[in-house]
Amino acid sequence: MTRLIGKSALITGSARGIGRGFAERFVDEGARVAIADINLEAAQETARALGPAAYPVHLDVTDQSSIDAAMATVERIAGKLDILINNAALFDASETVDITRESYEKLFAVNVSGSLFTLQAAAKQMIKQGHGGKIINMASQAGRRGEALVMVYCATKAAVISMTQSAGLDLIRHGINVNAIAPGVVDGEHWDHVDSMFAKLEGKPLGQKKAEVAAGVPAGRFAVPADLTGMAVFLASSEADYIVSQTYNVDGGQWMS
Ligand SMILES: NC(=O)c1ccc[n+]([C@@H]2O[C@H](COP(=O)([O-])OP(=O)(O)OC[C@H]3O[C@@H](n4cnc5c(N)ncnc54)[C@H](O)[C@@H]3O)[C@@H](O)[C@H]2O)c1
Repeated sequence: MTRLIGKSALITGSARGIGRGFAERFVDEGARVAIADINLEAAQETARALGPAAYPVHLDVTDQSSIDAAMATVERIAGKLDILINNAALFDASETVDITRESYEKLFAVNVSGSLFTLQAAAKQMIKQGHGGKIINMASQAGRRGEALVMVYCATKAAVISMTQSAGLDLIRHGINVNAIAPGVVDGEHWDHVDSMFAKLEGKPLGQKKAEVAAGVPAGRFAVPADLTGMAVFLASSEADYIVSQTYNVDGGQWMS
């Protein structure tokens, strides 16, 4: 598979989970990939596992100097940046009356400001290079509707969908395509954490929430990261040159149902 040969990509939050899945596939497709994560040790381990086309970069998307340093590292190591996947995010759940300012600020700092200012830094780099680029934001079905115990996370993902629309309309004149992917439920450490939070909030045994949610997905199961990688490669490739500001559901039919 060779659809991204010669491309340089930075994927935030790619030490594990969906981001790691994207990184694996991008390496298979011929890209050079920065495994950019707040957890440097995990990023180093992932980069080692993926081989010489992957390299670890420490990145805290809530810290502008860290974003700038990560962009400089990519330029130094790969010579350029063609593709950004804005994937790092945090999740929290609680009843409306129990939402704390700390949780609200933390989730907005990573999921919204973090995505915006990483997108901005990548766009500046791509404009400087002068040959366009691709930016893919990770939204969620949670950004398309409210959920009783998930107000803040849902609001951050709605913001990601909105930012994708505006940034896409602005940056396409530089040849930069900004689009987003809205997954449904994807198995991994993130969902183990979600399941344990719902176990506490709804008084359920561990694993029950996951089983209930899986039963409600028209495709009959949770996704695995590999279910999302085809869309990411497509949006990162020249086949998506005329696609602007869109958010694609890759969710086994969950949003439609
Ligand atoms: N898993 C799902 O069911 C699901 C569903 C819909 C959307 N999503 C979205 O997909 C993306 C990836 O989800 P996942 O399940 O792989 O999550 P995950 O929690 O497994 O991985 C998130 C990664 O982001 C990193 N990270 C956290 N804070 C950071 C920061 N400040 N700077 C840089 N890196 C940071 C973490 O270290 C971790 O490696 C997220 O945007 C998430 O909201 C996930």
